[in-house]
Amino acid sequence: PINTRCDLMMFGALGDLAQRKLFPALFQLESAGLLHEGSRMLAIARKDADVGEVRKILFDKLKEHVKQEEFDGDLAEQFLQRVDYQFLDFTHPDGYEALNDWRSADFSNLIVYMATTPSMYGVIARNLRSNECCDRDTRVVVEKPIGHDLESSKVINDELGEVFNEDQLFRIDHYLGKETVQNLIALRFANNLFASQWDQNHISHVEISVAESVGIEGRWGYFDKAGQVRDMVQNHLLQLLCLIAMDPPADLSADSIRNEKVKVLKALRRITPDLMETHVVRGQYTAGTSNGKPVPGYLEEEGAIKGSKTETFVALKAEIGNWRWSGVPFYIRTGKRLPEKLSQIIIHFKPAPHYIFDPDQKHLANNKLIIRLQPDEGMSLQILTKDQGLDKGMRLRQGPLELSFSETFETDRIPDAYERLLWEVMKGNQYLFVRRDEVEHAWQWVDQIIGNWKDSGQPPKRYAAGTWGPVASIALITRDGRSWYEDA
Ligand code: BG6
Repeated sequence: PINTRCDLMMFGALGDLAQRKLFPALFQLESAGLLHEGSRMLAIARKDADVGEVRKILFDKLKEHVKQEEFDGDLAEQFLQRVDYQFLDFTHPDGYEALNDWRSADFSNLIVYMATTPSMYGVIARNLRSNECCDRDTRVVVEKPIGHDLESSKVINDELGEVFNEDQLFRIDHYLGKETVQNLIALRFANNLFASQWDQNHISHVEISVAESVGIEGRWGYFDKAGQVRDMVQNHLLQLLCLIAMDPPADLSADSIRNEKVKVLKALRRITPDLMETHVVRGQYTAGTSNGKPVPGYLEEEGAIKGSKTETFVALKAEIGNWRWSGVPFYIRTGKRLPEKLSQIIIHFKPAPHYIFDPDQKHLANNKLIIRLQPDEGMSLQILTKDQGLDKGMRLRQGPLELSFSETFETDRIPDAYERLLWEVMKGNQYLFVRRDEVEHAWQWVDQIIGNWKDSGQPPKRYAAGTWGPVASIALITRDGRSWYEDA
């Protein structure tokens, strides 16, 4: 059996991410019996508190963030016995020696999780090294955003690279930890049926939609500097695109998979200024409704600065210049304050080469594979059959071959992305984490788009909260004689 015993140092342990996602995920690993009995955690933060107070805070947060039916107070108490606390000013080398008193001698057990702002990564890494708190065996987990453009991401990666090798770095993109996202790999490379259809000979276009009904949720300051392209496209959406578009890897090793993803990123056609009109739509929500309730516009949210041009929605037509995907557009859209939370990928297959049915029904002739990432995880293959009944002749009808994970496999719960990612870090498996060159190629592509916006000075297009984005995003796809799936 793999020895997953670990000493986990959590920087930023009292921050939002740690409390909302990381400790609940660790607690779920405890519930599932996956935490090694010898594993320990050191919560590290800048709050002057003792371990009792910190455990109390963490207990309350677990209760708040773990679903009621999955929360067990006694188990939470038992789990928190693994947690110690260290008060520390991350920026100052003094104080780090205390971490050495806590950790065990074997650095290969040590995992350092930097749940802090990325501007802290470099200084934490240097302070860990100068105090001999880590070595070339330590695993280090960092969160996005790795910078706000290519240049700043290089600075952060260089700083980390001075202390750690690439094979020690686990860059999180939490979408890669989602069960359904991993399923893309199984779907594509375990089913020869699809493998033989997966190219420009058989697929006309691909849609990737990641819609959220929430707005900015009190994060205006952060979000306004980022925008939807940096916050969602540079990482999550491009990762999804890579998993759909990549060539089959030779095996499941981290580098085999990541090499293939990088090839896709490198083949993405740059969106130069002359393509902006037809390939990109930028939107910002105005007041409207969400789940039937009135909600303010982006510029009326708490803390908003008037006149901000930050986008809360983007629709893109991405093209991949390689043998497999030449001429197959990938239409991508993602936004805040859309009508519902829904992430799905739709593969539109080309029609049969010769059509013999009712000409009025020709528009039905494309098979579609709909992959629902969240919620209601599953897949549906839209196929054509004969409509039943004597009077129907050979009229066609579209219907789904349906796979709902919860119904077919009777899964009662799908683990949260962070549970899987933490578990993979404990096992030392990097395949669900992002390599430096992936981050950089992704930045290069989105920097071009953001730069074009800056140069043109044009404001984003408006859309009312609770709608599917600016009208122009519909034109982006209808111009090519197609429509977004919901509108079909
Ligand atoms: C995060 C973004 O990375 O992903 C958020 O910073 C966004 O703005 C979130 O809301 C969406 O994640 P999920 O798992 O809810 O789809």
